Amino acid sequence: MTYEFDAVIVGGGGAGLYAALEASKSSKTAVVSKLYPMRSHTGAAQGGIGAALGNVDDDKPEWHAFDTVKGGDYLVDQEAARILAEEAVQAVYDLENRGLPFSRTPEGRIDQRRFGGHTSNFGEKAVKRSCYAADRTGHMILQTLYQQCIKNEVRFYDEFQVVDVIMDGDTCHGIIAFELATGELHVFKAKAVLFATGGFGRMFKVTSNAHANTGDGPAILARAGIPLEDMEFYQFHPTGIRGMGILITEGVRGEGGILRNSNGERFMEKYAPTLLDLAPRDMVSRAIMTEVLEGRGIRGDGRIDDHVYLDATHLGRETVELKIPDIQDFCKTYLAVDPAEQPMPVQPTAHYAMGGIPTDLNGRVVTASGVCNGLYAAGECACVSVHGANRLGTNSLVDLIVYGRRSGRHIAEFVKSTDSPKVPSGADERARSHVERIRANRGKNGAHPGELYARMQATMMTNVGVYRDAGEMQQAIRDLQRLREEFATITPQDDTTNFNAEVLGLLELENLIDLSIITAASALNRTESRGAHSRRDYPDRLDDEWLKHTMAHLGDDGSVSIDYKPVDTSIWKPQPRVY
Ligand code: FUM
Repeated sequence: MTYEFDAVIVGGGGAGLYAALEASKSSKTAVVSKLYPMRSHTGAAQGGIGAALGNVDDDKPEWHAFDTVKGGDYLVDQEAARILAEEAVQAVYDLENRGLPFSRTPEGRIDQRRFGGHTSNFGEKAVKRSCYAADRTGHMILQTLYQQCIKNEVRFYDEFQVVDVIMDGDTCHGIIAFELATGELHVFKAKAVLFATGGFGRMFKVTSNAHANTGDGPAILARAGIPLEDMEFYQFHPTGIRGMGILITEGVRGEGGILRNSNGERFMEKYAPTLLDLAPRDMVSRAIMTEVLEGRGIRGDGRIDDHVYLDATHLGRETVELKIPDIQDFCKTYLAVDPAEQPMPVQPTAHYAMGGIPTDLNGRVVTASGVCNGLYAAGECACVSVHGANRLGTNSLVDLIVYGRRSGRHIAEFVKSTDSPKVPSGADERARSHVERIRANRGKNGAHPGELYARMQATMMTNVGVYRDAGEMQQAIRDLQRLREEFATITPQDDTTNFNAEVLGLLELENLIDLSIITAASALNRTESRGAHSRRDYPDRLDDEWLKHTMAHLGDDGSVSIDYKPVDTSIWKPQPRVY
């Protein structure tokens, strides 16, 4: 089938829905999503949205912007951070007015809790900035935005996997999508396309990310020649459920939870004497790894020390049940641990991509030659560069509501003055032969998809994890290039057309392998430590050489070449990061 819309939004998470809501005010808008929108990974965001409402403590957007820049180890583009913090306030009130059921103070205002790296007066003391709905904030955002999109008559194409983008030079005219129910490919013509496909944490073995987080947007655009920005910066959240990676919100520490090693010590006193357990995530993750590597970790199933405890027992049952009910459920279900009575076993878990598709302040995709007409990105798959080298907790939701909203508004104006998309016949040929190649039967000796997936996750976890060095990253690149070659020999087991989840899984695996290669190559190239990119062989931040964004180009043969882009440091001069 061929469809035509003014705006096509790829992805039904928070960024996609907010952009669709804004675009639909003046244009015919569709959301094309591999999932039912309510199952998008935004729903897994627990602890809150940072916004300087000042409902509990004195606060200002300027302090929020400063914390964002400092937390990101000064690789943040500062005007983007200023806008983020400034517009977060109104975006939160807009969500409230649209029905989002925030937790409340006794006076009835939106309640706010502490999160890592959030301070008042430029680092003076911790501030309560995170607006939350218990530990279900992301889920509530999805509910609110989805209802509003339905009201605005946005068309939804659920369980449609994007396969290709239709470009003519630097102008986008639409996308091609694979319908899971029928196995058909569909052409979506559009004056504007926005990618909001979320993250790609599934490239790592231990991750908080849903199975669907396979980086479809960035991988497709990378293969279409768009460079990806700052892909070496991948965040490990300090507290995933040991072994499984499921997120234990930072909100637990925001409510007063404490990290302890096998001696029962509050070890963050050593690493971040002021902010303690609520230092930025890269620091807390490294502290946990260091405790484990130095023999003060707690023994896991494999009879090796691999985790520490997150202790919330002193908070009392009432606080646990009221403020972190889902966490209590997860721990009871997966660990038979009740956080009101026992500490939670946690370890760092691959959580969030700071890098992605490069955009300007209105979500337009930008390359060295300028803006791509009609092509946008927002949310985790994008890099407007508000997170730099390390994202602050809550700023993922802030990013998707602020920049999802800005992108949608820009699209609404852009389509008014843009001609109908020009899509030549045969625009779906490349996607068609791509899917046919993936489905081809190569006999019995082909590689097994599950095995390739496990090898990719293992090499990324071991060699491109919290700590890195050149030898490990070179090993990862060799492993991944081999996987890329072996991928071409896969023989799918399922040759049906309807609901062929294996084809979907192969498209996703191919995307993850390509993004893993770009991540590892970008990390190997950056010979310094900054934020979440922590190298044993280059332990210092080197501003003279490395205060610049990486722009990584993927070649057809899987090679990666790298250019750079300057960082906007127009507001604050880079300082050492002390907490
Ligand atoms: O810890 C959390 O609730 C996660 C929040 C975030 O990634 O911003």
